[in-house]
Amino acid sequence: DERGDFAARVIAWQRRHGRHDLPWQGTRDPYRVWLSEIMLQQTQVTTVLAYYPRFLQRFADVAALAQASEDEVLALWSGLGYYSRARQLRRCAQRVVADFGGQFPTQATVLATLPGIGRSTAAAIAAFCFGERSAILDGNVKRVLARVWAVDDDLAQAAAVRALWERAESVLPTTRLRASMPAYTQGLMDLGATVCLPRQPQCGRCPLASGCRAHLQGNPQRYPVKTRK
Ligand code: ADE
Repeated sequence: DERGDFAARVIAWQRRHGRHDLPWQGTRDPYRVWLSEIMLQQTQVTTVLAYYPRFLQRFADVAALAQASEDEVLALWSGLGYYSRARQLRRCAQRVVADFGGQFPTQATVLATLPGIGRSTAAAIAAFCFGERSAILDGNVKRVLARVWAVDDDLAQAAAVRALWERAESVLPTTRLRASMPAYTQGLMDLGATVCLPRQPQCGRCPLASGCRAHLQGNPQRYPVKTRK
């Protein structure tokens, strides 16, 4: 069926063509995964690769980060930009220590209550670390899903984004979640970042092309629609 097929294709593609060598992929430690996801939110992988190990060397765990001064965290963040991320990172670490005994919560709904962790980042952490069946929807994934279903709705409208979240939830893997959720989540991210590109979609390399309505219409670049005339 359409649901199982979508997830199975993403997972198979990820296993064969996705990245497996990034330093935050070799761990299910939520501290490390959280740190990587926050760094990757507005910064390219190649840049994060230089900062991530340095940051971990200085702050080996959430307790070490919680005790740091804001100035020291900002100094280690210097060059990554979007410095509110660094301030929220430290505040989040302090909350994990104060409210959760130094252990990150395992559920996306609880993770999303922490400073700097939005719904999609919370879902990514829960999926990568705990195999939770929770949907991500960052900018890249919005584009993938809008194309697969040829979504005409203006994604500047909250109702359209809500509907896309429902689509994202409807195609999640249904079996062997502990193994499939990390591969599925990483696969969707990698498809959006490397194949389903905004201006030059590489449909010839896409495992979803045969069922992608935008591709079948011959005009994938049209999606996502951002502002209605
Ligand atoms: N961007 C956000 N999260 C990412 C991840 N886990 N891998 C690569 N790029 C990302």
